[in-house]
Amino acid sequence: MKLTYYGHSTIQIETADRQILIDPFISENPHVRGIVTVGDFQPDVILITHAHGDHWGDTEELALGSNALVVANFEIVTYLATKTGHQNVQGMNLGGSFQMDWGRVTQTLARHSSSFPDGTYGGSPNGYLIESGDDIVYVAGDTAPFVEMQWLGERHDIDVAFLPIGDTYTMGIKGAVESARMLRPGITIPVHYNTFPEIEVDVTAWESHMLDAGFRTRAMRPGETLSI
Ligand code: NI
Ligand code: MN
Repeated sequence: MKLTYYGHSTIQIETADRQILIDPFISENPHVRGIVTVGDFQPDVILITHAHGDHWGDTEELALGSNALVVANFEIVTYLATKTGHQNVQGMNLGGSFQMDWGRVTQTLARHSSSFPDGTYGGSPNGYLIESGDDIVYVAGDTAPFVEMQWLGERHDIDVAFLPIGDTYTMGIKGAVESARMLRPGITIPVHYNTFPEIEVDVTAWESHMLDAGFRTRAMRPGETLSI
Protein backbone atom coordinates (compact mmCIF):
# COMPACT_ATOMS: atom_id res chain seq x y z
CA MET A 1 0.00 0.00 0.00
CA LYS A 2 1.31 3.44 -0.96
CA LEU A 3 -0.02 6.46 0.92
CA THR A 4 0.44 9.94 -0.51
CA TYR A 5 -0.49 13.04 1.46
CA TYR A 6 -1.56 16.20 -0.37
CA GLY A 7 -1.94 18.48 2.62
CA HIS A 8 -5.03 19.31 4.68
CA SER A 9 -7.03 16.03 4.65
CA THR A 10 -6.36 14.88 1.09
CA ILE A 11 -4.82 11.41 0.91
CA GLN A 12 -4.29 9.00 -1.96
CA ILE A 13 -3.98 5.27 -1.37
CA GLU A 14 -2.56 3.04 -4.09
CA THR A 15 -3.16 -0.67 -3.68
CA ALA A 16 -3.81 -3.60 -6.00
CA ASP A 17 -3.48 -1.35 -9.06
CA ARG A 18 -6.22 0.92 -7.75
CA GLN A 19 -6.06 4.60 -6.83
CA ILE A 20 -8.29 5.62 -3.95
CA LEU A 21 -8.51 9.35 -3.33
CA ILE A 22 -9.85 10.58 0.01
CA ASP A 23 -11.36 14.06 0.54
CA PRO A 24 -10.01 15.56 -2.72
CA PHE A 25 -9.50 19.19 -1.76
CA ILE A 26 -7.04 20.24 -4.46
CA SER A 27 -7.83 23.40 -6.45
CA GLU A 28 -8.32 25.56 -3.31
CA ASN A 29 -5.73 23.74 -1.20
CA PRO A 30 -2.74 26.03 -0.53
CA HIS A 31 -0.54 23.03 0.42
CA VAL A 32 -0.48 21.64 -3.12
CA ARG A 33 -0.23 24.84 -5.10
CA GLY A 34 2.54 24.21 -7.63
CA ILE A 35 2.68 20.50 -6.75
CA VAL A 36 -0.45 19.01 -8.34
CA THR A 37 -3.64 20.11 -10.07
CA VAL A 38 -7.02 18.40 -10.32
CA GLY A 39 -6.12 17.17 -13.81
CA ASP A 40 -3.22 15.13 -12.42
CA PHE A 41 -5.59 12.71 -10.69
CA GLN A 42 -7.33 9.73 -12.26
CA PRO A 43 -8.86 7.97 -9.24
CA ASP A 44 -10.73 4.68 -9.40
CA VAL A 45 -12.49 5.39 -6.11
CA ILE A 46 -13.18 8.64 -4.22
CA LEU A 47 -13.99 8.40 -0.51
CA ILE A 48 -15.64 11.40 1.14
CA THR A 49 -15.79 11.89 4.92
CA HIS A 50 -18.29 14.76 4.96
CA ALA A 51 -19.69 17.57 2.83
CA HIS A 52 -17.68 20.57 4.06
CA GLY A 53 -15.91 22.39 1.24
CA ASP A 54 -12.41 21.51 2.45
CA HIS A 55 -13.27 17.78 2.05
CA TRP A 56 -15.90 17.73 -0.72
CA GLY A 57 -13.44 19.91 -2.64
CA ASP A 58 -13.11 18.92 -6.30
CA THR A 59 -15.23 15.78 -6.12
CA GLU A 60 -17.67 16.89 -8.85
CA GLU A 61 -14.94 17.58 -11.42
CA LEU A 62 -12.93 14.48 -10.50
CA ALA A 63 -15.95 12.16 -10.55
CA LEU A 64 -17.08 13.36 -13.95
CA GLY A 65 -13.55 13.37 -15.37
CA SER A 66 -12.57 9.89 -14.19
CA ASN A 67 -15.96 8.19 -13.70
CA ALA A 68 -14.58 7.08 -10.33
CA LEU A 69 -16.82 5.23 -7.91
CA VAL A 70 -17.75 7.82 -5.28
CA VAL A 71 -18.27 6.33 -1.83
CA ALA A 72 -19.84 8.52 0.84
CA ASN A 73 -22.89 8.70 3.03
CA PHE A 74 -26.30 8.46 1.40
CA GLU A 75 -26.95 12.23 1.45
CA ILE A 76 -23.63 13.05 -0.23
CA VAL A 77 -23.92 10.53 -3.06
CA THR A 78 -27.54 11.56 -3.65
CA TYR A 79 -26.46 15.23 -3.89
CA LEU A 80 -23.71 14.33 -6.37
CA ALA A 81 -25.95 12.15 -8.55
CA THR A 82 -28.78 14.69 -8.59
CA LYS A 83 -26.57 17.71 -9.25
CA THR A 84 -24.17 16.26 -11.82
CA GLY A 85 -25.78 13.08 -13.16
CA HIS A 86 -22.77 11.03 -11.97
CA GLN A 87 -24.28 7.59 -11.29
CA ASN A 88 -21.20 5.60 -10.25
CA VAL A 89 -21.81 6.02 -6.54
CA GLN A 90 -22.11 3.92 -3.42
CA GLY A 91 -24.00 5.31 -0.47
CA MET A 92 -23.16 4.09 3.01
CA ASN A 93 -23.83 5.01 6.59
CA LEU A 94 -22.15 4.69 9.98
CA GLY A 95 -21.15 1.16 10.92
CA GLY A 96 -21.64 -0.20 7.42
CA SER A 97 -18.93 -1.88 5.36
CA PHE A 98 -18.60 -2.12 1.61
CA GLN A 99 -16.40 -4.63 -0.20
CA MET A 100 -14.60 -3.70 -3.41
CA ASP A 101 -12.18 -5.78 -5.51
CA TRP A 102 -9.16 -4.16 -3.82
CA GLY A 103 -10.40 -4.08 -0.22
CA ARG A 104 -13.09 -3.16 2.23
CA VAL A 105 -14.14 0.17 3.73
CA THR A 106 -16.18 0.72 6.88
CA GLN A 107 -17.73 4.04 7.81
CA THR A 108 -16.76 4.96 11.35
CA LEU A 109 -18.20 7.57 13.69
CA ALA A 110 -16.98 11.16 13.53
CA ARG A 111 -18.09 13.83 16.00
CA HIS A 112 -18.44 16.84 13.73
CA SER A 113 -21.04 18.40 11.41
CA SER A 114 -21.66 18.11 7.68
CA SER A 115 -23.26 20.50 5.21
CA PHE A 116 -22.36 21.36 1.62
CA PRO A 117 -20.90 24.76 0.70
CA ASP A 118 -24.39 25.73 -0.61
CA GLY A 119 -25.97 24.88 2.75
CA THR A 120 -27.54 21.54 1.75
CA TYR A 121 -27.67 19.00 4.58
CA GLY A 122 -24.74 16.59 4.21
CA GLY A 123 -25.80 13.70 6.48
CA SER A 124 -23.64 12.32 9.28
CA PRO A 125 -19.91 12.99 9.07
CA ASN A 126 -17.74 9.88 9.21
CA GLY A 127 -14.28 8.41 9.14
CA TYR A 128 -13.12 5.28 7.33
CA LEU A 129 -11.45 2.05 8.27
CA ILE A 130 -9.79 0.88 5.06
CA GLU A 131 -8.61 -2.73 4.79
CA SER A 132 -6.60 -4.08 1.88
CA GLY A 133 -4.69 -7.35 2.17
CA ASP A 134 -3.12 -7.30 5.63
CA ASP A 135 -3.04 -3.51 5.85
CA ILE A 136 -5.48 -1.45 7.90
CA VAL A 137 -5.59 2.31 7.57
CA TYR A 138 -7.84 4.49 9.71
CA VAL A 139 -8.84 7.93 8.45
CA ALA A 140 -10.58 9.71 11.33
CA GLY A 141 -12.11 12.52 9.26
CA ASP A 142 -12.89 15.79 11.01
CA THR A 143 -13.73 14.82 14.56
CA ALA A 144 -13.36 15.33 18.26
CA PRO A 145 -11.92 12.40 20.21
CA PHE A 146 -14.66 9.88 21.05
CA VAL A 147 -14.53 6.92 23.41
CA GLU A 148 -15.55 4.40 20.72
CA MET A 149 -12.01 4.86 19.37
CA GLN A 150 -11.02 2.51 22.18
CA TRP A 151 -13.30 -0.11 20.66
CA LEU A 152 -11.79 0.43 17.21
CA GLY A 153 -8.28 0.10 18.61
CA GLU A 154 -9.09 -3.10 20.51
CA ARG A 155 -10.70 -4.81 17.53
CA HIS A 156 -8.45 -3.72 14.68
CA ASP A 157 -4.68 -3.83 14.38
CA ILE A 158 -4.44 -0.37 12.79
CA ASP A 159 -1.20 0.09 10.86
CA VAL A 160 -1.62 3.77 10.04
CA ALA A 161 -3.99 6.37 11.51
CA PHE A 162 -4.59 9.79 9.96
CA LEU A 163 -5.71 12.09 12.79
CA PRO A 164 -6.62 15.78 12.66
CA ILE A 165 -4.50 17.97 14.95
CA GLY A 166 -5.39 21.52 13.85
CA ASP A 167 -7.82 22.39 16.66
CA THR A 168 -10.67 24.95 16.37
CA TYR A 169 -12.79 22.79 13.99
CA THR A 170 -11.50 19.38 15.11
CA MET A 171 -9.49 17.99 17.97
CA GLY A 172 -6.13 19.62 18.55
CA ILE A 173 -2.77 18.34 19.71
CA LYS A 174 -3.90 16.96 23.09
CA GLY A 175 -7.03 15.39 21.63
CA ALA A 176 -5.01 13.65 18.95
CA VAL A 177 -2.67 12.18 21.58
CA GLU A 178 -5.68 10.95 23.57
CA SER A 179 -7.10 9.45 20.37
CA ALA A 180 -3.84 7.64 19.65
CA ARG A 181 -3.94 6.14 23.17
CA MET A 182 -7.31 4.60 22.30
CA LEU A 183 -6.51 3.57 18.72
CA ARG A 184 -2.94 2.33 19.29
CA PRO A 185 -1.89 2.66 15.64
CA GLY A 186 1.49 1.51 14.34
CA ILE A 187 2.14 4.99 13.00
CA THR A 188 0.14 8.21 13.18
CA ILE A 189 0.10 10.84 10.45
CA PRO A 190 -1.24 14.30 11.34
CA VAL A 191 -3.76 15.99 9.03
CA HIS A 192 -6.04 19.05 8.96
CA TYR A 193 -3.51 21.62 10.16
CA ASN A 194 -1.66 24.72 8.90
CA THR A 195 -4.11 25.31 6.05
CA PHE A 196 -5.93 28.33 7.53
CA PRO A 197 -4.90 30.67 10.37
CA GLU A 198 -7.42 29.04 12.77
CA ILE A 199 -5.80 25.62 12.40
CA GLU A 200 -2.15 26.60 12.66
CA VAL A 201 -0.39 24.39 15.19
CA ASP A 202 3.15 23.46 16.11
CA VAL A 203 3.42 19.98 14.62
CA THR A 204 6.76 19.38 16.35
CA ALA A 205 5.04 19.96 19.73
CA TRP A 206 2.46 17.31 18.79
CA GLU A 207 5.24 14.94 17.71
CA SER A 208 7.04 15.30 21.03
CA HIS A 209 3.80 14.67 22.99
CA MET A 210 3.25 11.56 20.87
CA LEU A 211 6.82 10.40 21.43
CA ASP A 212 6.40 10.90 25.20
CA ALA A 213 3.27 8.73 25.01
CA GLY A 214 5.21 6.03 23.17
CA PHE A 215 3.78 6.48 19.68
CA ARG A 216 5.47 6.68 16.29
CA THR A 217 4.58 9.63 14.09
CA ARG A 218 5.23 10.71 10.55
CA ALA A 219 4.39 14.30 9.60
CA MET A 220 4.28 14.09 5.81
CA ARG A 221 5.10 16.93 3.45
CA PRO A 222 2.43 17.62 0.81
CA GLY A 223 3.15 15.34 -2.14
CA GLU A 224 5.18 12.89 -0.05
CA THR A 225 4.55 9.13 -0.32
CA LEU A 226 4.85 6.50 2.40
CA SER A 227 4.91 2.77 1.56
CA ILE A 228 3.61 0.34 4.17
NI1 NI B 1 -15.39 19.69 8.44
MN1 MN C 1 -12.41 20.22 7.60
